[in-house]
Amino acid sequence: MEKIRLDVGYTNYDITIGQNLYDEIKRFLAGKKYSEKVLIISDSNVFPLYGEKIAKIFNEAGYIAVNYVVDAGEGAKSLAVADSIYTKAIEEHIDRKSLIIALGGGVVGDLAGFIAATYLRGVPFLQISTSLLSAVDSSVGGKVAVNHRLGKNLIGAFYQPEAVFIDTDFLKTLPKREIKTGFGEIVKYGVIMDADFIDFLEQNAEKIFDIDEELYTPIIAKSVKIKADVVSKDEREGDLRRILNFGHTVGHAVEKQTNFKVYNHGEAVAIGIIAAMKISEKLNLITNEDFIRVEKLLERLKLPIKAEGVTLEGIKRSMMSDKKTVNGKINFVLPVKIGEVIVKNDVPESVVDNAIEYVIK
Ligand SMILES: NC(=O)c1ccc[n+]([C@@H]2O[C@H](COP(=O)([O-])OP(=O)(O)OC[C@H]3O[C@@H](n4cnc5c(N)ncnc54)[C@H](O)[C@@H]3O)[C@@H](O)[C@H]2O)c1
Ligand SMILES: [Zn+2]
Repeated sequence: MEKIRLDVGYTNYDITIGQNLYDEIKRFLAGKKYSEKVLIISDSNVFPLYGEKIAKIFNEAGYIAVNYVVDAGEGAKSLAVADSIYTKAIEEHIDRKSLIIALGGGVVGDLAGFIAATYLRGVPFLQISTSLLSAVDSSVGGKVAVNHRLGKNLIGAFYQPEAVFIDTDFLKTLPKREIKTGFGEIVKYGVIMDADFIDFLEQNAEKIFDIDEELYTPIIAKSVKIKADVVSKDEREGDLRRILNFGHTVGHAVEKQTNFKVYNHGEAVAIGIIAAMKISEKLNLITNEDFIRVEKLLERLKLPIKAEGVTLEGIKRSMMSDKKTVNGKINFVLPVKIGEVIVKNDVPESVVDNAIEYVIK
C-alpha cells in the first residue's frame, strides 16, 4: 500500500493506493464527523459491482448512504444530470456537512466533484476511483467539471477532495480497452518527468493485462506522485501544470475530429505524444532513438500511434479552437530528453504540419 499526500497550501489530503482498501476507508471515516446522510454517486457499470460493498462500509460506520446511479458514459457529465442530482440531494436533506462520494471512473469523479463544489456552495467530497485513468489522472488534482454542448469540461471548478482511495482490485473488472487508455497518461508521466519510470514500463509492458497489485500499486503511485508534485506547486495551471498537457494538444484535436467516438482519451493522447515527440525530433531537441523508444513502448502497450479519419486541416482547426490556445498561440509541451520537457509557443508551422502528417494513417 502507498499513501501520497497532496498539499495545495490551503488544504491537503491523502491518496491511498493498494489492494482491498475497505479497512482504510473505515479508518478514514473513524476520525471524521460528517452529517449522518452521505450521497454516493456512481454509474450503471460500477454500482452493480461495488455499490453494495461501499454502502456497507458507510452503514457500518454509522452513516445512512443514499445512492444516485447515472448511466455509464460521458453523457452523464451534463448540467441536466447535475440538476437531477441536486434535486435528489435537496429531497434527501443532504446538508453542508454531508459527504458526497464519487464511486467510479473519471466521468463520475468529475460529475460528483462538480456537484460537491457547487451544492450549498461546497460540501465535503471523497473519491473512490475505479478506472485506471481516474486513478492516475482525474482523481488527482481537484479539477471537476461537466460538459457543455459546445465543448468538454467548460463548466467547472477547482475543488479538492477530503481523500482519494484507489483500490487496485477494482481494475480487475475494467474492460481491457480502459486499461490501455490509462497507459496513455502513464507513459506521459514518464516522458515528462521520469526516465526510470519509462525503463520500468519497458520491462513490464507485456504484463499489463494481468492486473497484479505488485505491478499496479507502483505504477499508479509513481503516476500520482508526479501529478501531485506538479499540482502542489501549481494548482491553478499557471506555467508548470501545463506540462501535464503533454500529448494533449494534438490528442484533443484527434478526439474532437473523430467526434469522441473512435478514440478514447488515452488512445488519443498516445497519438498526441507521438506528434509532440516528432516535433521535438524535428527541432533537434531529442534524438531519433528517443523517439523510436517511446513509439515502440506505446505499440507494446497496444496503443494507437496513428489516427484514422482525420485531416491535417481538421486537426489544425481543432487545435486553434482549443481552450488552452491563447491569442492564437499554441503551447506545445516538448521533450528535450526522456524525463524532461519544455513549453514552446513558437514552433514553425511547417514542423507542426510535418508532425501531424506523421500521425495521420
Ligand atoms: N479532472 C481531471 O483532471 C481529468 C483528467 C483526465 C480525464 N478527466 C475526465 O475523465 C473522464 C474519463 O474517465 P474514465 O476513462 O475513467 O471514464 P469513465 O468514468 O467513463 O470510465 C470508463 C468506463 O469504465 C467503466 N468502469 C469504471 N470503473 C470500472 C470498474 N472498476 N469495473 C468495470 N467497469 C468500470 C465505466 O462505467 C465506463 O464505462 C472524461 O470525462 C475526462 O474528461 C478528468
Ligand atoms: Zn488526459
